[in-house]
Amino acid sequence: MINVYADNAATTKVSNTAFNAMLPYFKELYGNPSSLYTLGQKSQEAIFSARETVAEYLNCDIKEITFTSGGSEADNQAIISAAYLGAKSGKKHIISSAFEHHAVLHTLEKLKKEGFEVTLLPVHSDGFVSVEELKDAIREDTALVTIMFANNEIGTVQPIAEIGKICREKGVIFHTDAVQAAGHIKIDVKAQNIDMLSISSHKFHGPKGAGALYVRKGIPILNLIEGGAQERGKRAGTENVPAIVGMAAALKESCESLDKNFNYVKSLRNMIAGELSKIPHSKINGDLERGLAGTLNMCFEGIEGESLLLLLDDRGISASSGSACTSGSLDPSHVLLALGLPHEVAHGSLRISLDEYNTKEEAEHIIKNVPEVVEYLRSMSPIWKDLQEGKRNYVVQ
Ligand SMILES: Cc1ncc(COP(=O)(O)O)c(C=O)c1O
Repeated sequence: MINVYADNAATTKVSNTAFNAMLPYFKELYGNPSSLYTLGQKSQEAIFSARETVAEYLNCDIKEITFTSGGSEADNQAIISAAYLGAKSGKKHIISSAFEHHAVLHTLEKLKKEGFEVTLLPVHSDGFVSVEELKDAIREDTALVTIMFANNEIGTVQPIAEIGKICREKGVIFHTDAVQAAGHIKIDVKAQNIDMLSISSHKFHGPKGAGALYVRKGIPILNLIEGGAQERGKRAGTENVPAIVGMAAALKESCESLDKNFNYVKSLRNMIAGELSKIPHSKINGDLERGLAGTLNMCFEGIEGESLLLLLDDRGISASSGSACTSGSLDPSHVLLALGLPHEVAHGSLRISLDEYNTKEEAEHIIKNVPEVVEYLRSMSPIWKDLQEGKRNYVVQ
């Protein structure tokens, strides 16, 4: 049986390029970057060079990049900073969207408990926030707008440049969680009017435990971790040198083949989408044309997503029913609920996320097995029986 890893939105394997770039920094060049002797300085140089690479691919200055432990930390730092600094001038209102990652939503919950007011823009059934609704939501006391670049469950890519333009015109800081976008689609913080942006290495074939926060020159930022003066006093703690080096190598590699990878992955994804949508009473969530190339999120009425995942795992397919962070819970995905799907349909969701390492043979394995498993689960489902007997109405036609 072949094994198919189809959960690249959860994490990706480290590429050979990234792995080889990291190796010397574990056992030979292990000096502390803050040490003055040569071994330490070699680590310092490696971080400098990684910062140049990350800045190049985001189109910013090296001084605008702060390395973090990943996407969650970058999101926390951006949002908490903008909130606390905004509050100093009486601005305690933040705008975000209902389908952000929990790294954003839970940070906003914390701020709400501290007296901040949060407006969550609705997400329309196609998987997009409305720029007009954002415009209307911005107030005199709005300190921050934080809207994700690309959604981690359905893959829709938001109109970031337009959102950034509105925020710039209204003088409001704009942060975007670009964890799913970096290394997969073009990011240009200048052209897209972005003030702050978070990325995470393990989503583009770098190692886990590294990320970066871009903060535009002139936007103040708070240090949330007290200690040494690393990262120009913006993030204390001895730098994770191998991971930072690996992240930069992975970002360069991914960005250099962005279009090629996008087209290849999209063709595989579309092949799967075309076949799986033949399953009766199934639905694609989001918008394949205006989304990431590799993400396919579908609902199959009358079944339960967790059982689907377990049976697919038995057949060698690693997929997800939503974000990895919520897969331990039986609650339906907040993203699918935000799109307006009813609970019982959102429960039967499957996220397949592909990348350039996936093959046509793997896509065929998915195409063969998903319909069989859905049919099997439906044959045992009391809800499916009721639907078939007309005792309930189908939600997905
Ligand atoms: C959109 C989004 N934001 C933030 C994160 C968190 O990133 P990390 O795992 O690097 O903390 C993830 C990870 O799943 C994500 O998909």
